[in-house]
Amino acid sequence: MYVLGIETSCDETAAGVVGPEGVRSDVVHTQRVHEEYLGVVPELAARAHLDRVAVTARAALDCAGLERPDAVAATAGPGLVGALLVGLPFGKALALGWGVPFVAVNHLEGHLLSPMLEGDLDFPFLALVVSGGHTTLYLAEALGRYPVLATTADDAAGEAFDKVARLLGLGYPGGPRIERLAREGRPTVDFPRPRSRRHGFSFSGLKTAVRTHLQQPDPAPPEDVAASFQQAVVDVLEREIDRAVERTGVRTVAVSGGVAANGALRERLLARTDLRVLLPPRSRCTDNASMIAHAGRLHLLAGRRDRMDHPVRPSWTP
Ligand code: KG4
Ligand code: ZN
Repeated sequence: MYVLGIETSCDETAAGVVGPEGVRSDVVHTQRVHEEYLGVVPELAARAHLDRVAVTARAALDCAGLERPDAVAATAGPGLVGALLVGLPFGKALALGWGVPFVAVNHLEGHLLSPMLEGDLDFPFLALVVSGGHTTLYLAEALGRYPVLATTADDAAGEAFDKVARLLGLGYPGGPRIERLAREGRPTVDFPRPRSRRHGFSFSGLKTAVRTHLQQPDPAPPEDVAASFQQAVVDVLEREIDRAVERTGVRTVAVSGGVAANGALRERLLARTDLRVLLPPRSRCTDNASMIAHAGRLHLLAGRRDRMDHPVRPSWTP
């Protein structure tokens, strides 16, 4: 079964095809219009999706060498309501026009299951989804069954990268820019590694510590601040993984979402010989549609079909 996935939840217009052999095509258009605002402007995102979604879907089918897929999957949430209201109805219309099944996909479930595309990965596994809007560690027990082991009490990890990048005057998106700067620095500043007792992760205190440090009369050079901040984030993420491994006994860890593209995090986790760590390639950590096609395909194969009145769900939890 070849599934066309459509993703428009934030600022990437994406389409991709996944079949039994894996990813057949993966086309991602990142909107540049938000850069000057240092963050995503929802209304502009929706309009830019409208411009692009059809050509992106056509390109994904062309790259896959298909005239039409066997089914269509589209992101229904979580995300920006106006942006979701472009891709979801577009996906439904394609399915209706072609007379093929349709399934609405949860964006976070798309990330969560995306490491499966990289190699053998069976349930149960620990799934850390670290993106701009979410930082949650799940125990993936079975398709559609993902109890939360830890989540963030305040900022998401990617959001912390973006905010600290702004403090350092690096622009948006912050993650890749901090990573680049950190490569030239050393982690000389001992920032705190706060933990929320109730939720697990907490990143807003770390961001405040960076701001306070930068307001000092003699702060460390920006590259050292970037390296120190990045190391603190990696420590916090690894600490929560360790707690989850201890609690569940599950030693397979799948990491996904934009922050999973971070080189320091990847290096640290891949060095763990006591864990089996799966990471999508960097390009498929950030938003894409092959992950939506893949998650949709698994649900379709399990027999799920969604109706044409399936709503957008801006705050949908998996
Ligand atoms: O998954 P994603 O593309 O979109 C959401 O669903 O949020 O994640 C985007 C987030 C942004 O906050 C961005 O700064 C962060 O992922 N990010 C990174 C890196 N690349 C993207 N953070 C750290 N290091 C990176 N290399
Ligand atoms: Zn995402």
